[in-house]
Amino acid sequence: MLESAAGPGPGHSGDSRPVPERVLLFGAGYVAGHIAARLSALGSEVAVSSRQPPLTAESRRARWHQVDVESPDAVAALVRRVRPDAVVAVHGPSDITWCETHPAETMAAHHGGARNIAAALDGRPVLLISTDNVFDGHAESHGESAVPEPANAYGRAKLAAERELLATQDALVLRVSLVYGLGDTGARPNFLTSTVRTLRSGRPLLVPEDHWNTPVLVDDVAHWSAALLRAGRRGVLHLGGPRRIGRAAWARHIAEALGADPALVRPAPRTGTAYACRPRNACLHSELAGRYPELGPHPPADVLHCTPALIST
Ligand SMILES: NC(=O)c1ccc[n+]([C@@H]2O[C@H](COP(=O)([O-])OP(=O)(O)OC[C@H]3O[C@@H](n4cnc5c(N)ncnc54)[C@H](OP(=O)(O)O)[C@@H]3O)[C@@H](O)[C@H]2O)c1
Repeated sequence: MLESAAGPGPGHSGDSRPVPERVLLFGAGYVAGHIAARLSALGSEVAVSSRQPPLTAESRRARWHQVDVESPDAVAALVRRVRPDAVVAVHGPSDITWCETHPAETMAAHHGGARNIAAALDGRPVLLISTDNVFDGHAESHGESAVPEPANAYGRAKLAAERELLATQDALVLRVSLVYGLGDTGARPNFLTSTVRTLRSGRPLLVPEDHWNTPVLVDDVAHWSAALLRAGRRGVLHLGGPRRIGRAAWARHIAEALGADPALVRPAPRTGTAYACRPRNACLHSELAGRYPELGPHPPADVLHCTPALIST
């Protein structure tokens, strides 16, 4: 375990605390937009930031600043300008397959960005959204006490970013599993969205038969992020959905919910697909979350219950 999540002890009701008045997010993508929307609904003044203007409806609703996290001066200037009470680091490439062929760019954005953010914090709390790819995936699932051993270039860059921010003593690293949702997902649709689109068009879908996830609904990531910021948590915490599921089984479930032909789902060995660099098990569970009362109202949703409901809306 890197660190135990510290902060207000058991019994503390985080929801009685105010949300940080002003929050700056580095990143303006899919996950950032949902965290920004949740914080904004709770009363925070929220700004998102990225190199290009945001693409999702949620991100576009927040105030946007242009920044490249790889520039220490630009990051420091933005923090001085916004004067946030808390920072969320949710920047950098999230396409794991792309990252594997661009390891230097991946490290520069995730680790370099985290280093620049850490240098600019000046005692402010920071929440980093990290990943299950910091583990090699040999175990079926990973709790906070598991020792990170990154599976790929993306995992190495995210672990380096984690360590950079944890060294400030003001950081919470929230490792989240594969995020899903439907709706406006920006440039890179998540697995649920892309599977729905492919099956609706009647095209076949090559899916790994030996790659497992604990998928987590994007709204749950947003709820947990806001609740944890509010409670002032530090350390490392895991957020995975309650169900461990293979991609092929999930894709067949999506086909059923759509009324599409399940034979369009073509299972294949992971090594023969775009998922070759992913760990066999990209799965998380938490040994700590049960001790945090602020998370009680937000148990992560079961992907098999959510999928039909999302598709029918
Ligand atoms: N989606 C998931 O399943 C998942 C799971 C676990 C962890 N995460 C983490 O969550 C974060 C966001 O994921 P996402 O799915 O929301 O990805 P996304 O939609 O691709 O968003 C990434 C954001 O980072 C910005 N960015 C990239 N390079 C940057 C740079 N050099 N300077 C400033 N901004 C930069 C992008 O905007 P520009 O390109 O315009 O700069 C974009 O706004 C990533 O750090 C990822 O590791 C995601």
